[in-house]
Amino acid sequence: MSNTFINDVNEGLSKPNKSLSSKYFYDKIGDAIFVEIMNMPEYYLTNAEMDIFKNQTQGIITSLELNPQIPFELIELGAGDGTKTKHLLKKLDENGYDFKYFPIDISQNALDQLERSLNTELPNINVSKQQGDYFDILASLKATNTQKVVLFLGSNIGNLTDDSAKQFITELSNVLNTNDKVLLGVDLIKPESIVLPAYNDSQGITKRFNLNLLSRINKELKANFDIKAFNHIPEYTENEGIARSYLVSTKAQSVTIDELNKTFTFYEGEKIHTETSRKYNDTILNNILENSNLEVVTKLMDSNLYFADYILKKR
Ligand code: AVJ
Repeated sequence: MSNTFINDVNEGLSKPNKSLSSKYFYDKIGDAIFVEIMNMPEYYLTNAEMDIFKNQTQGIITSLELNPQIPFELIELGAGDGTKTKHLLKKLDENGYDFKYFPIDISQNALDQLERSLNTELPNINVSKQQGDYFDILASLKATNTQKVVLFLGSNIGNLTDDSAKQFITELSNVLNTNDKVLLGVDLIKPESIVLPAYNDSQGITKRFNLNLLSRINKELKANFDIKAFNHIPEYTENEGIARSYLVSTKAQSVTIDELNKTFTFYEGEKIHTETSRKYNDTILNNILENSNLEVVTKLMDSNLYFADYILKKR
């Protein structure tokens, strides 16, 4: 069965432990709520990585071993609104680097907005956007001889389980040539008192983000989820280093999805797992890199040591 929204929803809600994939958060409304999340005081991730991109831009360029004389492709997986990347793009542009920027995202809406803003803010930059799922896009990246730099920022890799992340990094490594680079941004393991509020903000923005997935199913698959009858519950322990978000049914209820011709029942307190946000340290990262030909050349961190941008080089 192919990985479409309808098939994934059917599969996820048919399992004994129900789940929905976080990749479906990003419709037009989800994109806008995610921008609100990035601006929340509790969501330290964006500011932390912004600190690195703003204050260590030259360090990034040096670690990437870029040369103004040698053309390269800058490929960004999950580009989103590109706010952090723009600091790097600007510096590369000012210093006469010869490159083409390829933003890739699951959200066509986010890509269209990004392209428009780049055309006004950085009109010199050659941009070629591509919509799709990371795993599907890898095949299309296939070996050209042009030097590649792949950006995978914002701890987006954290949405993958360790097994999937390992598989993904291995596949990515296989489409790269020797000396190509990957800039991998990851949130670091830290105490619950810092991480949990980032997924459980006081204004209820993250709750709205999570519940929007049910609204999206209602709209696109003609379902009748009662949004008010589900709660948003995040969990995190520093020991495990993984934040997980759930939607919890506040009562026994059933939901019909017309496009599937199917009714799903929920017991009171039943959870739908909607997101995994893995946090990293060097050991966990090295385990992910184990089967790939990528090795860490530099680790850049923000002033609070909350977040790391690892620069990886293909052997
Ligand atoms: C975009 C995947 C990095 O896991 O922190 C934010 C998404 N979810 N709040 C994350 C998210 C809830 C975010 N990533």
